[in-house]
Amino acid sequence: MPYPELKGRVVLVTGGASGLGLAAGQSFVREGASVVLADLHADRAVAEAGLLGPAHLGLGGDVSNEADVASMVNATLTRFGRLDVLVNSAGIPDSFLPTLEQDVADFRRLVDVHLCGTYMMCKAAAPQMLRQGRGAMINLSSVAGVLGLARRNAYSAAKAGIGMMTRTLGCEWAAQGIRVNAIAPGYMLTPFMQKLVDEGKLDADQVRRRTPAGRLGSARHIADAMLFLASDGAEFITGVTLPVDGGYMAWGAVGDAYGGPLN
Ligand SMILES: NC(=O)c1ccc[n+]([C@@H]2O[C@H](COP(=O)([O-])OP(=O)(O)OC[C@H]3O[C@@H](n4cnc5c(N)ncnc54)[C@H](O)[C@@H]3O)[C@@H](O)[C@H]2O)c1
Repeated sequence: MPYPELKGRVVLVTGGASGLGLAAGQSFVREGASVVLADLHADRAVAEAGLLGPAHLGLGGDVSNEADVASMVNATLTRFGRLDVLVNSAGIPDSFLPTLEQDVADFRRLVDVHLCGTYMMCKAAAPQMLRQGRGAMINLSSVAGVLGLARRNAYSAAKAGIGMMTRTLGCEWAAQGIRVNAIAPGYMLTPFMQKLVDEGKLDADQVRRRTPAGRLGSARHIADAMLFLASDGAEFITGVTLPVDGGYMAWGAVGDAYGGPLN
């Protein structure tokens, strides 16, 4: 247990039934935290929380619905009486269509889930953290929130918005003990990413060659960064977006970043 101070802390993870959110939940459990996995897919969240053990909770909820947001936070407080860490990992992929073929309703939905969902979850969790005088919020941005990726208007705009909102909230609550940070994952092999590869929207080998580390990341890499940002070791860190991407965003030269064997 590298972070003994996380023992007994209460962690609410949205998008907790899959991918990065689930890996985060599992990692916090290993540190001795009490974990709530919340997800649009209630059945999966309940099943995954069951696998974590009886000390943990799984529940359904849509982060783009304000009433659901309130009930996810309330259910956490009813069960555990406090809330120390919020991980905003709920998310959906965009269409990858050319802009002229994009549907405005899809654009709105993306922004609703990623940006408004993150905003509403932070807003709902803050009163309890302010009462406690301590809390850590961890949002999910993306390389797409920093670099220009053609066709990814809504996703990229929402992720860039999350990066900036992480700064504004971090500044607003810093003196009251709430730290707000974001992680910008590169390309991590999760169900979300696998689907894009399977649908031919992403060439995994091309991504490997464009990544200085020469490989895709795993959910564990993100979960490890989340543990650090939630830990007391990060007590003076707020408002940042931390890239966890094998050097993807650091690379600025023309051509491939990696010339070794692909596996
Ligand atoms: N996997 C990557 O490489 C990668 C890279 C950059 C950013 N991200 C971001 O990380 C986050 C998690 O991605 P992932 O790879 O774990 O995806 P995932 O698809 O494996 O998991 C996302 C979860 O969010 C849930 N969800 C979707 N809409 C929801 C809603 N409205 N309310 C509540 N839950 C909802 C889904 O049911 C799913 O369980 C997303 O915000 C994604 O944009 C992922």
